[in-house]
Order: sequence, then C-alpha cells, then structure tokens
Amino acid sequence: MASARILLLVTGGIAAYKACFLARLYMQAGFSVKVAMTDAATRFVTPMTFQVLTGHPVATDLWGEGQSVALDHIEYARWADLAVVAPATANNLAKLTAGIADDMVTTQLLAFPGPVLVAPAMNDNMWDHPATQANVALLKQRGVHFVEPADGWLACGTVSKGRMAEPEDILAATRELAAVIPAREELSATKSAPGFWPGQKVLVTAGPTHEPIDPVRFLGNRSSGAMGYALAQAAMQQGARVTLITGPTELPVPRGLEQVVRIQTACELSDAVATALQEGCQWLIMTAAVADFGLPQPSAGKMKKEDLGDNWTLTLSRNPDILAETVPLHRDDDLKVVGFALETEDVLTRAEAKRKAKSMDYIVANNPIAPGSGFGTGDHQVTLLGAQGVIWASDSQPKARLAGQLLQQIADHENKA
Ligand code: C5P
Repeated sequence: MASARILLLVTGGIAAYKACFLARLYMQAGFSVKVAMTDAATRFVTPMTFQVLTGHPVATDLWGEGQSVALDHIEYARWADLAVVAPATANNLAKLTAGIADDMVTTQLLAFPGPVLVAPAMNDNMWDHPATQANVALLKQRGVHFVEPADGWLACGTVSKGRMAEPEDILAATRELAAVIPAREELSATKSAPGFWPGQKVLVTAGPTHEPIDPVRFLGNRSSGAMGYALAQAAMQQGARVTLITGPTELPVPRGLEQVVRIQTACELSDAVATALQEGCQWLIMTAAVADFGLPQPSAGKMKKEDLGDNWTLTLSRNPDILAETVPLHRDDDLKVVGFALETEDVLTRAEAKRKAKSMDYIVANNPIAPGSGFGTGDHQVTLLGAQGVIWASDSQPKARLAGQLLQQIADHENKA
C-alpha cells in the first residue's frame, strides 16, 4: 500500500535529525505522514521542520499547549495505518514494553492497534544492557517490527552498535510492512455481506514448514506466509475471531489476533491444527505450504561434511497430509475448509481434484510463475473454486486486497447457498 498513512514518532536522540530525512523519503515515496515528538526530541529538531516536510501540524504536547493546532491526544493514532518510531531511545523502548503512556509518543503508541516498526538509536552500552535487550525481545514477541541499529560512529565518540539504521533502510522496511496492510478504503470496499464474518471463529495456517536435518540445517520451501497473514488480518478486520498458526516467517504478526501459535515442522502443524479444531472453530483456511516429506530422525549433532563424502543421500519419510488425514479426525459437521493449491500446469483441473480428494469446501488455485503472481509480498492472482466449479477469478492485485476480496466472495457464496 504505497499510499499508507504513516505516524512517525520521534523520540529524543541525536538521530532525530535523520528522522527529517526519513519524513522526506516517505513523502517522496507517496506515503502520507504525520509526526508526533517527545519533548526531548524537540530539543534536537524543531516541530516546525517536520511540519514543513509533511504539511501537517506536529503533535508534541498532551495538553495542546505548545502546538499550533489543538490535537486530540490520540487523533494521529486513529488516523494511521502504520506507526514508525525513529529514533527510539532506550527509555522509549522501556516505556513501550511496560505500556507507559506519559508523553505524546507513548500515548499514541499505546492507542495504536496497527503494525509498529521501531528503529532504535542509543549508546552501545545502553543497547547491550540486559534491560534493553529483554525489552526488545519482548516487543518482538508481541509482533513489534525492528530495523536493527547499525555499527558505526556514535555521537558519544565510540564506534560500535547503536547507531540508527539509515533512513533508506527504514524506508525499505516500511515498504515491506505497508505491502501487507490493507488500506482502510480497501477494507471497507471489500467488507463482506453484512454480518457474515463477525463472531466466526477462523483458523488460518500460514507460511512454510522447516523440516530439521540436524540442529543447523533444515528442508524448507519458498512460501513467505504473506497470503495467510493477509487472510488472517482481513478476517479479523471483518469481525472474525482469528487464530493464526504460523511457520517460520519474517512477517509482522497482525495485532489483535485471538491466538498465535508458532510451529516449525509439518508434524507440529498437524498437532496445532488438531488442538485448535478440538477447541472449536467454524472455518479452517489452510494456506500453509506444508512439507510433504521430512526426516524421521534428525541428527542430534551437526552432521560433518568430512563424514558425508562426495554424495549425501537423505532418506525422507512422508509427513501427515493435514487436510486429508488430521482434519477428518477432528472435524465437526459445520466446519468449512478452504485450501490452497499451488500449481504450474493444469492449474484448475489439478486444484479441483485436490479439493475433492481432501474434502474441501473451497480451494484457491494459484500459479506462482504466472505473470502478475508470485511468492512474497508482491501482487498475486488466484481463482476460487467450490463444489460447482469456478466461483471467482481475481485480477492481479496486492495480497492484502486479494485477501479481503476472497473473504467477500466466500461470504457471498455462502449467503446464496
Ligand atoms: O501440497 P498440496 O498441493 O496438496 O496442498 C493443497 C492443500 O493441502 C493446501 O491447502 C495445503 O495447506 C494442504 N496440505 C496439507 N498437508 C500436507 C500438504 C498440504 O494439509 N501435508
């Protein structure tokens, strides 16, 4: 979403001057930007600089006293699609971890339900301090996204890690995040038949599986998880209660999900799906790219190339087919199943055969090498099939919009049935 609305939150460090360049890069890239600053940040750069760069008043004061325009204390948080804290001081990270809201930046952050990207900047000892590292680890666990500080010259005179990432790198990370957030307009344009998704319990599986060979090697696949994450986000935005079971991905977990379960292997995914089905849900959306084969007994220690010779043969055994084997054991009559089929030839015929063989209500057929499609966070094109054949063939479009439209198509089809 190149037109995403970014709330740029600036805290008090010398790197605040680099946030001015970042604001300008965002504007040039077509984002809308509004800025909030802590009092300490205004000691390094004036709010007027950001006001001129973004064309919007800058929020600095919870009481509106120092601002040209009176702003409601969480007005910008309601407006934004994405929040970026750059630079984030150690103090700001600690407050964010604890949920403190005692200045304009932390107040907006606590009130903001969307994805958050943080670019820390501080003295190297402050960055290495166990308190800061524990805060960063906890924030990552909660789904906060980081652009790690870089090695380099620090204002305190040392050369070490702690310097804020360059504005170009923060822009690149922001673009990646923005690509998986549906715009507010897209969400309301793709709202499903009223009342269909609200309250429904939806289980989404996403991403690849990793099948360990030894403690350092695994067999994986090229699934990014983007489609599953977009579906989880879209279902949630349309009122569903969503559990996401995710394989290893770099994507930020959408905030507001009911539950997130992380798995590595196909067997772990199978167990997690069984548990979630036993707890009860109405929809299973199976986007995960499950490895069909894995090693029955991965090596406990790292396998050494000296011991493997010139040719290394691995014996793989079949993993459970979750839709065909696990789901039927735990399936209630009212569970609806949506599967995905990734095919490069005879796409629709093969997809329909899979739908029938695995007792799915719907299957989404896609070809990753067709023009306008692909892995990752770019555009994609799919065909939705049900028991009566093709229901909908999409245009090539961003996965976030595609996810909203797929849910709309399914809701419309269910309502007609
Ligand atoms: O890999 P395949 O093309 O058969 O995948 C079709 C559907 O089956 C997908 O929705 C996928 O998540 C699911 N699947 C599964 N268990 C497997 C392999 C695939 O549930 N072992």
